[in-house]
Amino acid sequence: TGVLILWAVIGYLLGSIPTGVIAARLMGLGNLRDIGSGNIGATNVLRTGNKKAAAITLIGDALKGVVAVILARAFAGPDAVQLAALMAFVGHCYPVWLGFKGGKGVATFLGLILILAPIAGLIACAVWAGTAKLAKISSLAALVAAAVTPLVLLVLGAGQFFALAFVLAALIFWRHRANIARLRDGTEPRIGSKG
Ligand code: G3P
Repeated sequence: TGVLILWAVIGYLLGSIPTGVIAARLMGLGNLRDIGSGNIGATNVLRTGNKKAAAITLIGDALKGVVAVILARAFAGPDAVQLAALMAFVGHCYPVWLGFKGGKGVATFLGLILILAPIAGLIACAVWAGTAKLAKISSLAALVAAAVTPLVLLVLGAGQFFALAFVLAALIFWRHRANIARLRDGTEPRIGSKG
């Protein structure tokens, strides 16, 4: 148990690094909380108009999960890997440094699926990017990708990650509840608009 607690803490601490907040501050874009949706994710960084900062946020937030999994894989067993993955996601959404008000988990989720089950991860990324391109709404792309990923894992024979992906997808829906309400009202902003 001690080992598992250690990996939960390592995963959480990695996940809780707020890439978007740090990138926005270092690149002189101001406080993300005062911009657009106020979210700390790449979509909201993009609302500053700085594509480089948005890309750094997307990649950084994905890498947090990737690093947590790689470390747990190298130094512990499969249970620690799944726990570190879950806690990296939780750390992103509920970081102690930001009063537990973090992001919506999408980039971290995609990074986690990519490193846990690469083919499924590529499909999840393709669904996310494809929906974003067609609908031009980031939250909708995230919700569609989150919804299909557990099924993709099952179909590809990576069912050992089904429960984890299901829980993460459910958390993504929970974190997007304000977005879901706006999608229903038809008021959810399109990608790149000021939101
Ligand atoms: O990754 C979060 C995205 O799906 C929605 O972000 O800022 O439009 O609420 P935002």
